[in-house]
Amino acid sequence: MIPDTRLNAIISEITGPVVADIGSDHGYVAVAALAKANVKRVVAADISGKCLEKTVRLAREKGVSDSVETVVSDGFSDIAEHIDTAVIAGLGGYETIKILEKAKALDRVPEKLILCPHQNAFELRAYLDGFRIDKDYIVESGGKFYPVIVAVKGGSGYNADELRFGKNLPPTEDFFKMLRTRKRVLEDRFSGREMPPRVRAEYEEILGLCLE
Ligand SMILES: C[S@@+](CC[C@H](N)C(=O)[O-])C[C@H]1O[C@@H](n2cnc3c(N)ncnc32)[C@H](O)[C@@H]1O
Repeated sequence: MIPDTRLNAIISEITGPVVADIGSDHGYVAVAALAKANVKRVVAADISGKCLEKTVRLAREKGVSDSVETVVSDGFSDIAEHIDTAVIAGLGGYETIKILEKAKALDRVPEKLILCPHQNAFELRAYLDGFRIDKDYIVESGGKFYPVIVAVKGGSGYNADELRFGKNLPPTEDFFKMLRTRKRVLEDRFSGREMPPRVRAEYEEILGLCLE
C-alpha cells in the first residue's frame, strides 16, 4: 500500500486489461496497477525522459519490468497499442484537456479515464461532455483536496451545477471538509468587505451544498 490517499484512490479505480499511466513520473501508479487482478499490461508514459527514468527504476526494483512498457510520449502520441483504461493524474486541467484533444485527433481516447487534476477541475469537467461520469469524489492528501474523476465514453458529462465542486459521487467526508475549508477561507478573506459577484456566487453555492 502506498502511503498516499490520492494515489491509493486512483489505483483503486483502475481496471484492465491494458492500462496507460500518462505522466507516470515516480511510477507508483503504473507498478501498483499490475497488482490488480484483471490488469495484464501497463504502458507508463511521460513527456520527460528524466521523469520516466523513475518509473523504469521502480519497475526494475519490483521485478515487473516485463509487464510495464515505458515510453517517452506527449500524452498518447507515441502509444500505438489499444488502451482500455488511462490514468491522467497530477497535471492541470488544461494540460489534461490538451492531452485528450490530441488523443481524440488520433482516435486514441480510451474507453475509461481516471482523472485527477491538481487545478482547473471546473474546466476539465466542462470538457467531459460526451463521457458518462461514474465517479467524481474528493480526497484529501497532504492538506490539499483533489478530485478523482472516473469517466467512461458515451454520456452527457456534468450539469452546470456540478462543474465547480463535482458530483460528490460516491459521497465522501473529504468533500464536506473541502467545502468547510473553502468557506472559512472566503469568510476570512472578505471579512467586513463585500464579496465580488463571482466570489459571492461560489460562497452561496458552498452554503447550499453544506446545508443539503
Ligand atoms: C506532478 S507529476 C504527476 C505524477 C503522477 N501522475 C501523480 O499523479 O503523482 C506530472 C508528470 O506529468 C508529466 N507530463 C506533463 N505533461 C505531460 C504530457 N503532455 N504527456 C505526458 N506526461 C506529461 C511530467 O513530466 C511529470 O512527470
